[in-house]
Amino acid sequence: MVKNTLFTDEEKLKEAIIRLRKKRKAVILAHNYQIFQIQEVADFVGDSLELAKISAKVDAPLIVFCGVYFMGETAKILSPQKKVLIPVAGARCPLADTITPKKLLELKNTYSEAWVVSYVNTSAEIKALTDVCCTSSNAIQVVKNIPAKRVIFVPDGNLGWWVKKNVPQKEIILWKGFCYVHQNFTLEDLQKQKSKFPHAQVFVHPECKPEILQNADLILSTSGMLREAKKSSAKEIIIGTEEGLIYRLKKENPDKKFCPLKRAECVDMKKITLKELYLALKHQRYAIELPPEIIQRAQSSLKEMIKYI
Ligand code: 13P
Ligand code: SF4
Repeated sequence: MVKNTLFTDEEKLKEAIIRLRKKRKAVILAHNYQIFQIQEVADFVGDSLELAKISAKVDAPLIVFCGVYFMGETAKILSPQKKVLIPVAGARCPLADTITPKKLLELKNTYSEAWVVSYVNTSAEIKALTDVCCTSSNAIQVVKNIPAKRVIFVPDGNLGWWVKKNVPQKEIILWKGFCYVHQNFTLEDLQKQKSKFPHAQVFVHPECKPEILQNADLILSTSGMLREAKKSSAKEIIIGTEEGLIYRLKKENPDKKFCPLKRAECVDMKKITLKELYLALKHQRYAIELPPEIIQRAQSSLKEMIKYI
């Protein structure tokens, strides 16, 4: 019989990760877009904010965040007394990186009376310059409920477009950042899948382009998709987001078929492998460090969000 070395190597790595996790009293968190091997070994799998909230709640001195950098930072902001590691320091979110503190300060100077609402896909420095943070599922509510007529919305232009459409009574200044993974879905791709699966429901992430949002059944965050897939009576669902989510959707709904709108991979999310996770635990790398004043101000903009939802 031919020995499957790949499988045994993977199993050995998983065992070593589990041993080290126990030794270090660590908790492993994995974002919904992580490779399935990381999702399998994690203590919790979820969206960025859910995981940051879990990191603040769990009784563990060490958090290993398998996701992109801003997500690790958000966990650190909400639990500054804990050590937060990200296995690959270069796993970043190009959407978050479109807005810099310098550019945001310029906008704030131009529209001095406007409130800044930032999507959680932003750096800690941007959160520190923000009035209220929001997620993809509460952005409309936050913008609607804050006591400001003028709003600077960063960094995702598509999510911003969706908010603007739903809150026409406010002036919303958009930053035109985008996520290349979601921006890549076209109406043609959607029409192709709709004709292949004519009875399917269509779930898309609000980072998709307006023409995709306007032709979807539901516009949802990753956790929203997981929740609605369970409730849905449809047997087939077209999914317009990063393909890593499909693993969890299938696992939690074995009786349903999930059809990706198109292949969609976030390269940075996939930089974290079992080997990188093992090395992170072994060498306790790469620790997220943030200046206390940034933590304090960023924490306040995240906490403000709760007031308006
Ligand atoms: P969540 O807010 O669902 O974690 O998604 C983050 C993200 O990167 C979407 O592309
Ligand atoms: Fe950023 Fe897009 Fe990757 Fe999400 S999928 S982490 S928004 S680049």
